[in-house]
Amino acid sequence: MKAVIPAAGLGTRFLPATKAVPKEMLLVHDRPAIQYVVEEGLASAADGVVIVNSHEKKAIEDHFAPDDALVALLRQRGKGAYADEVERVGSLPVDFVYQDEALGLGHAVLCAAERTGSEPFYVLLGDVLVPDNEMLPAMQAVSDAHGGASVIAVMPVPDEEVDRFGIIAGEEVEPGVWKISELIEKPPLAEAPTNLAVFGRYLLTPRVMELLRDVKPGVGGEIQLTDALDALLEEEEMYALVVSPDEGFDTGTRESWLATNIALSQRA
Ligand code: G1P
Repeated sequence: MKAVIPAAGLGTRFLPATKAVPKEMLLVHDRPAIQYVVEEGLASAADGVVIVNSHEKKAIEDHFAPDDALVALLRQRGKGAYADEVERVGSLPVDFVYQDEALGLGHAVLCAAERTGSEPFYVLLGDVLVPDNEMLPAMQAVSDAHGGASVIAVMPVPDEEVDRFGIIAGEEVEPGVWKISELIEKPPLAEAPTNLAVFGRYLLTPRVMELLRDVKPGVGGEIQLTDALDALLEEEEMYALVVSPDEGFDTGTRESWLATNIALSQRA
């Protein structure tokens, strides 16, 4: 089972910092943002991570590649702890596929289809960090309790933010768990059935990859993962686990990136 991390975006909101350095490589407290997401995936049931990269962002690959020369140099200079960490990061089971056209999140996920194969898979969006690594196992438990169904994390958001997210409809079947009846990508508030927003952590059945092949461009002209999930509802049950804002750290804007840096350094 793989964890898929889409990382081919332009990082527009962080320009000019992200002109030469991928957004995913910006430091958050003590490591690049994407390293948290990779480690979160590997702390779950995933036996490997697939990063959907663009060919322009080689720094991400360099970060996860072995560097024997650097490790040897660090050891020679008595910097064993740094050598250990460089060695550890370079040996994580991280694999790369490419999305060289910005056709949307659904398209990015589809680019990993050959790697996820016929197994369920996770999708982890990198704008939110979950350093406690507890969300995916909780989602897996909900899936196990419901016959291996797809499970997505959702978070209540204020009215004015509803149109920035995928929003679910459905009914609460046990405290904090909803059975989903519909998913809508970035609805206007008046058309939003709930305030429960898709949060960026998904546990999905392999059928999603097949459905993604047929999804037509939706909101913003992009191939939306949300639209494939809505189509999946015609065939399979799907559940949502309600998570709270304090379970994740947002790094999607400059302000939230800074706040997350401060919060994580104070926890350390
Ligand atoms: C994506 C998804 C959306 C989800 C959001 C979470 O949107 O399409 O359903 O709510 O991530 O961050 P994006 O933020 O890429 O526009």
